[in-house]
Amino acid sequence: MSDHKDTGGPLEPEDSAAENGRTPRKVIGTPPQTGTLLAAEEEPAPQGAGDELDEASAKRAERVIASLFLLASASSVAFIAYYIGWSGRNGGMHGIDRALESNLWLGGTMAVSFLAMAIGITLWVRRLMTSKQIVQQRGDLRSDEPTRQAFTEDFLDGAEDSAITKRPLLRRTLLLAAAPLGLAPLVLLRDLGPLPEKKLRSTYWGPAVAKAKAGGKKGVRLVVDGTDKPLRASDFASPGGMITVLPEGIHHADHALNEIAKAVTILINVPADKFKPAKGRENWHVGGIVAYSKICTHVGCPAALYEQTTHHILCPCHQSTFDATDAAKVIFGPAARSLPQLPITTDDEGYLIATGDYPEPVGPSFWERG
Ligand code: FES
Repeated sequence: MSDHKDTGGPLEPEDSAAENGRTPRKVIGTPPQTGTLLAAEEEPAPQGAGDELDEASAKRAERVIASLFLLASASSVAFIAYYIGWSGRNGGMHGIDRALESNLWLGGTMAVSFLAMAIGITLWVRRLMTSKQIVQQRGDLRSDEPTRQAFTEDFLDGAEDSAITKRPLLRRTLLLAAAPLGLAPLVLLRDLGPLPEKKLRSTYWGPAVAKAKAGGKKGVRLVVDGTDKPLRASDFASPGGMITVLPEGIHHADHALNEIAKAVTILINVPADKFKPAKGRENWHVGGIVAYSKICTHVGCPAALYEQTTHHILCPCHQSTFDATDAAKVIFGPAARSLPQLPITTDDEGYLIATGDYPEPVGPSFWERG
C-alpha cells in the first residue's frame, strides 16, 4: 500500500486511485480522519459506586430500582385506564369540574410514572454502574480547502448538467411550483382562530355601569371574586393589600365566563403619599385604592403578584412588572403598555363602585390595534 496525503476524509481505495494516475478524491460530507470530530478516549476508570457495592447491597439496590420501574409501569397503566374510562363516561370532558378532575388524575399518574422512571434510572447509574471518564474531542467544523473545492466543482458540474440557465421554461415553472409551497405555512395562521376584533375593546364594566346609572346609582359596585360581597373602602383600608374584584351581577351575564375573564380587576391599596395619579385621572382612586385590569398586556396571563414594599405588580409568566403607584406603567419585562385603569369612587354607603369601563382595551396588545 502506498502512503497517501491525508485530506481529512476517507479516500478512494489508494490502489485504484494510484492505478488511474489520479489524486485520491475525497468523499464530500465525511469527517476528517485527523483532528477527529469524535475521538473518544477512555482514561483509566476511577472506581465507581458499583465497584464498591458488595453483592448483597447491589441486590438491594436492584430490588429498589425494579420497584420504581414497576411503580412507573403501574402509573402508566393507570393513566391509560383513567383516560379510556373517563373519556367514555358522561360524554368526556364537559365543564371546568370535569377538566380539573381529569387534569388531576391524568397529570398525577403521568408525573408519578416519569418520576419513578427517572429516579430508577438515576439510581441504576449511580449505584450499579462503574464511573468512567470519557473525553470527547472536537475538531474544526469548517471543511478544509480540498473539500470545499470539490464541493464547488461538483455543484457547478451539476448546474451545468441540469442546463438550468439554458432552459428558462423549466427554471420558471420550477420557481412557480416552489412559490406556493413557501406560502403554505401562512395559510396555517388561520388555525390560530378568529381575530378578537372589537371584543376586547369593552368589558362588562361598561354595561354594568350604564345599567346602574339608569337605575339612579352612581356606578356599579365592586364585588370580591369568590364571595361576591361588595367592598367598602374602609374594609380595604390597610396599605399593601391586593384583592381581585368583579362587577356586581356579572354571574348573570350572557357568556358569564367570557365576561369574567375580560372584566377581572385587581384592587390595590397604594400608600396615598406614594401614589401619583395620571393626568386627568386624579379622581379615579379612593385614598390610594386603585383598580387595574388583572390581564397582563403582554400575552394575557393574570398579573396576580403584588410586592408590597416596592408597589410592583408582577406577571409571573414572563416577569413583566408594573408600577402600581404610577398608573401601572411597565417598568420591566416584555409587556408594551400599562395595565388599563378602572375609574372608581365610593357610593353614598361607602361601597367602592366603578363609574365607567376601562378606557383602553384590556389584555394583550394585538398587532391589529396599531
Ligand atoms: S403574559 Fe405577562 S409577562 Fe408575558
